[in-house]
Amino acid sequence: MGKIIAVTNQKGGVGKTTTSVNLAACLAVENKRILLIDLDPQGNAAMGCGVDKQEVKYSSYDLLMEDVPASATIIYQENINFSVIAGNADLTAAEIQLIHADRKELRLADALSSIKNDFDYILIDCPPSLNMLTLNAMVAADSLLIPMQCEYYALEGISALMSTLQNIQNTVNPNLHLEGILRTMFDDRNRLTKDVSEQLIRYFGDKVFKTCIPRNIRLAEAPSHGLPVINYDKSSRGTLAYIALAKEMLNKN
Ligand SMILES: Nc1ncnc2c1ncn2[C@@H]1O[C@H](COP(=O)(O)OP(=O)(O)OP(=O)(O)O)[C@@H](O)[C@H]1O
Ligand SMILES: [Mg+2]
Repeated sequence: MGKIIAVTNQKGGVGKTTTSVNLAACLAVENKRILLIDLDPQGNAAMGCGVDKQEVKYSSYDLLMEDVPASATIIYQENINFSVIAGNADLTAAEIQLIHADRKELRLADALSSIKNDFDYILIDCPPSLNMLTLNAMVAADSLLIPMQCEYYALEGISALMSTLQNIQNTVNPNLHLEGILRTMFDDRNRLTKDVSEQLIRYFGDKVFKTCIPRNIRLAEAPSHGLPVINYDKSSRGTLAYIALAKEMLNKN
């Protein structure tokens, strides 16, 4: 059975896209069949996988709003051995259109039902807000993976996210669970990072991934080559961290 994981945090710039692309690539290296869905109008996940978001015939907008079958929207990227559904600026319209659409929170779940079992994991890169797109991702998902930077205000953001998770569990998607919280851009020499990290573990225990993603320039460079970091610099610290994350996640599943 395919598992759908929404990579989400309403806070911007915390490493959602970097995590979606690189976890997808590292799971593919572990011989898992992977689909990455870019649900952000910024289209960064698609670009980071070498898919030109402007040139695609169909994007996740068409999947959500135009009833284009999922199979027609999937682009298999041979060099990185996983599939992508691109996101682009069209999704900005979907944020509004969804408010008045039929089955408005269920549209992504409906659209993915026909292909769910063609993959081992479907990762969804969410936009930095709790809008209708994110809600569709959370309703379609089996679990949430939450990247966060260990900063002063981060815990507040996480508690807002946890109440959204609870609301969704109590209403449309009782099976939704927390896959884990991932500490990104981690610097253990920083006192504040350490404090926030300790609080996080006190609250969430083993829901916090043991793997931390360090700050690593290769992770920031790789997208400009349209590549996950493992295909760009296979021995970088960023690569090793995302390989460790993929293995940790597979051990838990
Ligand atoms: N571990 C890291 N080390 C160094 N740079 C990183 C790391 N993780 C992410 N970055 C860089 O930080 C910026 C934000 O990361 P990313 O785009 O993954 O965040 P995001 O949560 O998807 O952002 P948004 O909310 O805008 O979608 C990017 O420029 C990315 O290259
Ligand atoms: Mg992003």
